[in-house]
Amino acid sequence: MPLPTLLRDRLRLPLVAAPMFLASSPKLLLAQCQAGIVGSMPALNARSSEQLDDWLGEIVESLAATPQAAPFAINQIMAPANLRQDRDLALLEKHQVPMVITSVGSPGEVVATVHGYGGLVFHDVVSVRHAEKAAAAGVDGIVAVCAGAGGHGGQLNPFAFVSEIRRFFEGTLLLSGALAHGKDILAAQLLGADLAYMGTRFLGTAECEIDAVYKQMLQASSADDIVYTDLFSGLRGNYLKASIARTGLNPERLPAPPKPGVGTGGHGDYKLWKDIWAAGQGVGAINGLPSVSELIDDLEQQYRATLRQAQVLAS
Ligand SMILES: Cc1cc2nc3c(=O)[nH]c(=O)nc-3n(C[C@H](O)[C@H](O)[C@H](O)COP(=O)(O)O)c2cc1C
Repeated sequence: MPLPTLLRDRLRLPLVAAPMFLASSPKLLLAQCQAGIVGSMPALNARSSEQLDDWLGEIVESLAATPQAAPFAINQIMAPANLRQDRDLALLEKHQVPMVITSVGSPGEVVATVHGYGGLVFHDVVSVRHAEKAAAAGVDGIVAVCAGAGGHGGQLNPFAFVSEIRRFFEGTLLLSGALAHGKDILAAQLLGADLAYMGTRFLGTAECEIDAVYKQMLQASSADDIVYTDLFSGLRGNYLKASIARTGLNPERLPAPPKPGVGTGGHGDYKLWKDIWAAGQGVGAINGLPSVSELIDDLEQQYRATLRQAQVLAS
């Protein structure tokens, strides 16, 4: 699939940096765009719609000053609990945000508004049924969130999920879930995706403004140190076991949530996202805390080296 015009010839690598609650910020987003990949941030990372308005103004101004930078995306959480949905959507329209990534809920209303000003909507899904609904709602892109993805990861295998979505969706397909290396970006393309989508890998960068202990834990963790549970948010997601152990809970024996779909929000004084930390199974790739620009240099080198290996195999 050709990329949408907005992205064609604008990216150094076929890569979108995923939005991460509390962890992404204008600083991280700008570093990602300036390094030549799509940078993103959840709208809710701004404490209020007023702050979002200011941040979007600053982002648009900074990117206008660096025309070689890649476009950016803002994530809208479509769950009813997000009481800022309408106000924030009006701000995305005001600032003509080029790409909007919707998650948890239906993208319908966002599609009409964003298409109205010429922007793109990508919707993030963990099931074939939700991918079908997103396609029917007219989204430009679908993010297949597979097993092992940080935060609210899915359970489907990427081989199966990408093939199924490709049967009915001809738009832009993004693949996510533990992608952390340049070869993973090429693998995503070989599977049939147009773009790779990476979250956890960016937690281990200098520009990511998370707690220093979180960064140490990421560097000390491997795929075995991730636990998948719906206890805290009511939706199944991947978290660092060590951050759960600090709360006094045994991460190997977590109870079910109090009611299906309703999480505890944390444990004792420890709050989800703030103290109980999300990460995907690709966490083992985090060794050191490079700048985003150094990380993208590495990913590009790895991508090109793997491409050369593939060409040798094909010859
Ligand atoms: C700390 C953290 C916070 C996240 N917060 C959000 C969020 O607010 N909205 C969202 O759509 N996805 C969120 N995600 C999921 C990512 O957007 C993306 O799907 C995931 O990181 C991809 O898998 P990977 O982490 O294995 O690369 C979060 C992921 C992490 C690790």
